[in-house]
Amino acid sequence: MREDLEKIKHQIESFEIIRPEQVEEFRLKYLSKKGELNALIEKFKLVPGEMKREIGQLLNLVKDKAKTKLTEAQSHFESKIKENKSEQTDLTLPAEKEFSGSRHPLSIVENEVIEIFKKIGFVYAEGPEIEDDWHNFSALNFPKNHPARDMQDTFFIDEEIALRTHTSSVQVRLMEKQKPPIRAIMPGRVYRNEAISARANCFFHQVEGIYIDKNVSFADLKQTLFYFVKALFGQDIKIRFRPSYFPFTEPSAEMDISCLLCKGKGCNVCKYTGWLEILGCGMIDPNVLKNCGIDPEEYSGFAFGMGIERLAMLKYEVKDLRTYFNNDVRFLNQFEGL
Ligand code: DAH
Repeated sequence: MREDLEKIKHQIESFEIIRPEQVEEFRLKYLSKKGELNALIEKFKLVPGEMKREIGQLLNLVKDKAKTKLTEAQSHFESKIKENKSEQTDLTLPAEKEFSGSRHPLSIVENEVIEIFKKIGFVYAEGPEIEDDWHNFSALNFPKNHPARDMQDTFFIDEEIALRTHTSSVQVRLMEKQKPPIRAIMPGRVYRNEAISARANCFFHQVEGIYIDKNVSFADLKQTLFYFVKALFGQDIKIRFRPSYFPFTEPSAEMDISCLLCKGKGCNVCKYTGWLEILGCGMIDPNVLKNCGIDPEEYSGFAFGMGIERLAMLKYEVKDLRTYFNNDVRFLNQFEGL
């Protein structure tokens, strides 16, 4: 009997339960009513008295071993089933929305402006942010030591080189390398030495536009800009021009649009004037054309420049300029656009 028990003990130990159906196989073979251990319990009755204690202990030990092995195997396969269940995906559920990021509000406005002008034949152009004195000032009719240079607080790199203070420098580059007709829209980042506040920053963005051809007039300028603001802000917008001064245009003007909020009635956004200033413009000064190798007797043109932050502030009613540059995702992901 002892040998039988030792043999079964060994068999139990080496029984490999790899597949779930082997759990039941194991139970039937050793622990069921008709199993091998029960058969030995029957035999136990015949064991002589003095051996009963020893064999009984061994029998219990083997039986416990088998039971432990069985419960371990059962719980192993049960947890496997649970795991599988949680891994299974319900393919009928709608897909989770993946957050793919959003475009920066200033890029959205910039792209919108470009698209509007593209529709009427303006091409896209760019220029460098580090610019020389000629392209940023001299060619644009800012004479050396002229007070107009003080209008823009410049970051100089050396006497000749600076961070561009406006995108008007790109006009010059374009006129130098192209023959009229020229019709271009030129967005970009510009830099000015200003203290950072809710209303000013040391860098911001502008869009510049020029149109040069034979017989371009102020009427063309007016209609082009009127078309533009209607496309950007809506058909019922009104415009007005105020005389102004820029060294590179003559005559020069600033253009206002009727206040988007109060529609011209007067509110705190338009400081109760009913109007909002949005851009500077004018007829390109003949000196500028000459500086860039274009004959002012043959050609004339208009130019305009505006701040993208300004447009974005009006469009989104976000007044603190700094929010556009803090890179706070909670602010940035509220904007949608191309
Ligand atoms: N460059 C001017 C500025 O930064 C804006 C400007 C005014 C651009 C009139 C123009 C223009 O092209 O014609 O303040």
